[in-house]
Amino acid sequence: MWLLLLDNVNLVRGNKYILKDINAVFETGKIYAILGTNGAGKSSLAYLIMGINGYEPSSGRILLDGEDITNLSITDRAKKGLTLLWQEPVRFQGLTVEQYLTLGGKIKVSNHQIEFILNFVGLSPNLYRHRMVDGLLSGGERKRVELASILLLNPRYAILDEPDSGIDIMSLSMIENVIDYIVKHGGTVIVITHREEIAKLSQEAYLLCNGSILTQGSSDRIIKYYKDRCDECSHVNLPSLEEMRI
Ligand SMILES: Nc1ncnc2c1ncn2[C@@H]1O[C@H](COP(=O)(O)OP(=O)(O)OP(=O)(O)O)[C@@H](O)[C@H]1O
Ligand SMILES: [Mg+2]
Repeated sequence: MWLLLLDNVNLVRGNKYILKDINAVFETGKIYAILGTNGAGKSSLAYLIMGINGYEPSSGRILLDGEDITNLSITDRAKKGLTLLWQEPVRFQGLTVEQYLTLGGKIKVSNHQIEFILNFVGLSPNLYRHRMVDGLLSGGERKRVELASILLLNPRYAILDEPDSGIDIMSLSMIENVIDYIVKHGGTVIVITHREEIAKLSQEAYLLCNGSILTQGSSDRIIKYYKDRCDECSHVNLPSLEEMRI
C-alpha cells in the first residue's frame, strides 16, 4: 500500500510551536479532511508537506512510499506527484489562463482537454482561456483556474487548502466533483476546510488544535467533535459586545 506519512513532525518558529508532535498517515486513494479553527496550523501543515520555503520541519520526518522526502525541494516533491492548492491563490503576471494551465507549454494537453477542464471548474473556455491570470481575475475565478491546473497535473497527492473559500455557494458541487475526479484518477486528497459538506466527502479526518492533533479518526465522528467542541474555542478571543462598544 502506498502512503504519505508524517513521523513525529514539529515546526517551531521563534519560540513558538506552530506544529507539535504530528503523526499522520495518508493512504493512496482516500480522501482526508483536516479540520481546525483559524490559526490551528492547517495551512502550515500543508506547506510543510509540500516543502514550501520557511516550513521545513524542526524535527521529525516526512515519508512518501517509504522514502524520506523531508529534505526534498518543492520541485522534487511535485515531480513525485505532490501538489498544493493555495488558500490564497498566487497572482501571475504575463500569462494567459491557457499558458498557466500548460505551464507555459511544458505539459502537453489537447485543446479538447483544456476545454473539458475549464468547463469542469465552471469557467467557459471561450471567455477564459485567453484571459490573463493577473489581478484582474476575481478571487473565485483564480481559485477555479488553480483547481483546473491541479486536475491537469493528475496529482498522486492533492492538498487542497480551503478549496471552497471564495467560491460561491452554488458551486460547492463543482468542488465535490473536483475531489471525486482526483480520487477516480488514482490520487489521494487531503482537504482543509471549514465547510461540513466538503469535510463529509472524506473518510478520515484530523482535527488540529493549537498546532497539535487533538483527535483523528472516521470523519463523521471528527466532524461531530469539531462542531460540538470547537465552537467555544473559536470565540475565546473575540471581544464581548460590551467591549466593542467602548
Ligand atoms: N512562518 C511563520 N512564522 C511564525 N508564525 C507563523 C508562521 N506561519 C504561520 N504562523 C502562525 O502559526 C499559526 C497557524 O497558522 P496557519 O496559517 O497554519 O493556520 P490555519 O489553521 O491555516 O488558519 P486559517 O483557518 O485561518 O487558515 C498562526 O498563529 C500563524 O500566525
Ligand atoms: Mg489556513
